[in-house]
Amino acid sequence: MTSGWFITFEGGEGSGKSTQAKRLSERLKEEGHSVTVTREPGGSPFAERLRTLILDPTLETHTPLAEALLFASARADHLDQVIRPSLAAGGVVICDRFLDSTRVYQGYAGRVEPRLLEALELIVVQHTKPDLTIVIDIPAEVGLARAALRMEAPVHTAPSEKPPKQPRGLLTDRFETRDLAFHKKLREGFIEIARLEPQRCVVVDGQRSPDEVARDVWSIVQARLLSDTA
Ligand code: TMP
Repeated sequence: MTSGWFITFEGGEGSGKSTQAKRLSERLKEEGHSVTVTREPGGSPFAERLRTLILDPTLETHTPLAEALLFASARADHLDQVIRPSLAAGGVVICDRFLDSTRVYQGYAGRVEPRLLEALELIVVQHTKPDLTIVIDIPAEVGLARAALRMEAPVHTAPSEKPPKQPRGLLTDRFETRDLAFHKKLREGFIEIARLEPQRCVVVDGQRSPDEVARDVWSIVQARLLSDTA
């Protein structure tokens, strides 16, 4: 294998994608694959610093364009430091959020002009598009209620800078605090992307138990990626 697989998980708040990213990585490791689980914003030391800044709920609201530029900067570093080297070494990279989150949070719901986001994508992502994107779909109300309750630490990632363990229920980030209409729009945005790019994206119903969702995710990965190499 000269280049590995790039798998991304996307979805609204509380969709369970971090849990599923971790479970898929365990399953792939059992099958003998070399797997890197990472996340955005973040995933490299520099990008993790930007994450803290971008998601800080105590900062005054900044414009969606300023946010999009910071996400792009974090992504450029993450791609160079972690994603591209891991793929070039033939590994599987599983990323908790990636370009579709920018399209949806800053574009669809945040109203940054699509042509600006497309330009940023061309500059930053270039040819490193995900091979497979799993959208975990959940009604906004259900996801927000889950997000408010969760007390787990974020999925870690950057090799040299682990975020401190904190009770996440006490730490709403700047997007979790947006109103229900915003979160409903996010859900629509992810579904729309999946509809427009069916070769890359698959939507999974996230309202079921983590085991059921993990079973679906595994079947999708087998059908879309593993069968190619059989
Ligand atoms: P997380 O808590 O699921 O890790 O996500 C971090 C937050 O950042 C989440 O509210 C979505 C948001 N986000 C964007 O707005 N744009 C992006 O490009 C990314 C990657 C995340």
